[in-house]
Amino acid sequence: MPRFSKSVSSLRSSEIRDLMTLASRPDIISFAGGMPGNDLFPVREIEELFSQLSEKTKQSAFQYGPTPGLPTLLESLGDFLEKKGLPVKENRLLITTGSQQALNLLAKAFIDPGDPVLVENPCFIGALSAFRAHEAALKGLPVDREGISIAALQEEIAHSVKPKFLYITPYFHNPAGLLYTQDRKEALVAALQGEEIPLIEDDAYGDLYFFEEDRLRLQPMKSINPGGIDICYTGSFSKILGPGLRLGWMLAPEEIYNKCELIKQSADACSPSFTQVIADTFIRSGQIDSYIASVRQEYKRRAAAMVAALREHLPDYVEWNEPRGGFYIWLTLPEGCDASRILQIAIEGGAVFVIGRTFDPTPSVVRNNTLRLSYCNNTPDQIAEGIPIVARAIRQICG
Ligand SMILES: Cc1ncc(COP(=O)(O)O)c(C=O)c1O
Repeated sequence: MPRFSKSVSSLRSSEIRDLMTLASRPDIISFAGGMPGNDLFPVREIEELFSQLSEKTKQSAFQYGPTPGLPTLLESLGDFLEKKGLPVKENRLLITTGSQQALNLLAKAFIDPGDPVLVENPCFIGALSAFRAHEAALKGLPVDREGISIAALQEEIAHSVKPKFLYITPYFHNPAGLLYTQDRKEALVAALQGEEIPLIEDDAYGDLYFFEEDRLRLQPMKSINPGGIDICYTGSFSKILGPGLRLGWMLAPEEIYNKCELIKQSADACSPSFTQVIADTFIRSGQIDSYIASVRQEYKRRAAAMVAALREHLPDYVEWNEPRGGFYIWLTLPEGCDASRILQIAIEGGAVFVIGRTFDPTPSVVRNNTLRLSYCNNTPDQIAEGIPIVARAIRQICG
């Protein structure tokens, strides 16, 4: 029998993965994945841009690159981030292999087995698995419609063992769909100031806003650059260009950056040069802004289709958020409803989603009354067909 390390012995395939294998029928309508719409990728544009590159640049795309990222992409991405008000020059920018890698690098940099780590409840599953793989003692703090609970945060900060960091997804949260208010962001910054608890601010979806009036709420906390808090800001090309590029980034204070760069050297030496060349060319062509604007409109259309279908078909006792951007809608059913049974019935009927318990940092055996629907990879017609299946399954279990 292979003698695995202690840190990986406890890793298990999740309940949700096992259920998902049931859902691999080709005709099933999936509201499960957080995947951008395949039909939206800028295939032609990238083909054309790549074909116009010099032979030398094309060759460099096949070559190893520096660990922090190709200098040309660091420059163009740095400009892109500076336009959002991010303090690129006062920090260091690291290109990562998806922003998932940034979370892993930070986990390795900070977590010793048993260290307390604060996350939102619910929380992005990729972050949970990265922190669990480093044996963090996860502590989930509840979120409401405005963001994380400041009272719960203050209680944790007051503990004698200081949490190693706080991880949050304030802009179109995965899975809760919520957008933090300006007040909550300010309260969060005030609570962390001087506490020596770094903040990981995950901004994977912020560009996918549906309403111009939300621009202020979308301003990253990192852009305020508050003194007395180390903020590690992470982002990704996955939702604004394509996850197949496997490219993300981290903007962090120098000391944290240095550790993460060393860890990255041993993890993968460098992120793919090929896709870094593509991302850089896309940014420099100026097409990235118009492309993001176009997918923003399309996701808004899909979200509206899901909102309309939910309004029409869901029973009144289901609570849910109307999305202001991003990919997700979070449903809360009455206490005692079993989302796993609903999922099974929905799959039999031809639609699939993710049960909310998957995103719980410390899953409870009793509470299983939430679920996440994503609208990103479905046409309005598929949404109109699939939501009644989910609604029927809910009624069958919850009455
Ligand atoms: C909140 C959040 N952060 C980070 C990621 C990781 O994305 P990637 O590794 O593709 O950049 C995702 C992907 O779904 C996400 O939802």
